[in-house]
Amino acid sequence: MKEGFDSPWDRQIMKKVAIIENIHSDGLDLLKNTPGYEYEIIDDTSEKNLINKLPNFDACTLRVSKLNSNILSKCKNLKIISRHGVGYDNVDLEYIKKNNIALLITATANASAVAEHVISMILTICKSLSLYNKEVRDGNFKKNSNKIKTIELLNKTILIAGFGRIGKSLAKMCSGFNMIIKVYDPFVSKDTMNLHNCTKVDSLDDSLRECDFLSVHMPLNSKTKNLINFQNLKKMKKNAIVINTARGGIINELDLHKALNENIIFGAGLDVFENEPIQKENPLLKNDRVILSPHIATNTDECLSRMSIETTKNIIDFFENKIDKSMIVKI
Ligand SMILES: NC(=O)c1ccc[n+]([C@@H]2O[C@H](COP(=O)([O-])OP(=O)(O)OC[C@H]3O[C@@H](n4cnc5c(N)ncnc54)[C@H](O)[C@@H]3O)[C@@H](O)[C@H]2O)c1
Repeated sequence: MKEGFDSPWDRQIMKKVAIIENIHSDGLDLLKNTPGYEYEIIDDTSEKNLINKLPNFDACTLRVSKLNSNILSKCKNLKIISRHGVGYDNVDLEYIKKNNIALLITATANASAVAEHVISMILTICKSLSLYNKEVRDGNFKKNSNKIKTIELLNKTILIAGFGRIGKSLAKMCSGFNMIIKVYDPFVSKDTMNLHNCTKVDSLDDSLRECDFLSVHMPLNSKTKNLINFQNLKKMKKNAIVINTARGGIINELDLHKALNENIIFGAGLDVFENEPIQKENPLLKNDRVILSPHIATNTDECLSRMSIETTKNIIDFFENKIDKSMIVKI
């Protein structure tokens, strides 16, 4: 959608914002109602179309599409990429660093929505809700109830790997269930963890042996890819449940499938995948022990509104030199 922007004078002062993949209307309304900004929604996110369209823009918002150097090298006006979210493995960081393009994230908008998604996956698995739902619909009211295993959260140990915004929000929710919370994050101090009623663990291996739940909340990079593989899944308790709402590949999918099939762990929940959309040959699609969702942990009505507002507000704040530093990614 285009607003104003007709005269050459307008062209000089209007900031042009590309909305790469539409966002909630609350964020668009903010741009519409802020003098000096106009936007255009780009739905066709093919490399060809982005190369064709993006060179006209001063800033862009970005959801899951990839911005590689091939595209970015054509965008000589682009000063800001404003991620609708917090992960940024879809952006060529080396290129934007070299070319002084700012990368902004919605740092305060989505942690609680992701943490709630983790809790909902844990509860769905622990209470065997999908199975019970099917049993009742199949006419087996109570019949199989003693064959279906259900477990409690009370006094169970969760290992949170990665103690940033989402890890901290999850810890707060887990303490409401009276869980024992251990945290693995080499970059966060023991004192910070203690402030959140959590215990710091220095060795991932040792703590995997002790935990009932593992939830990962770190970025995907060369150090975290396949961090959880068959070798360390084998160290976990038979009743253990593993959740990945961070990025596909942190937990190796084939190893997880094997560990579930061989009864090495009890269950898993995944919101993110090595390849998205998930490939139809992925064996996890046929594995009943895993709960799957299509990378929607932040797709609550409330969170989509918050993220859209933060995404466009970040662009405005950046141009007006009042951006909150926590929204800027230091590359
Ligand atoms: N499923 C979704 O829709 C969704 C939504 C938002 C975020 N995410 C993903 O969730 C993850 C966490 O997001 P966040 O906002 O909490 O990030 P954050 O930057 O606030 O926190 C990440 C934490 O990971 C820690 N870390 C880095 N490397 C580590 C390692 N090797 N071992 C242990 N800890 C390590 C860092 O010290 C930091 O504390 C990211 O991967 C992000 O992309 C997914």
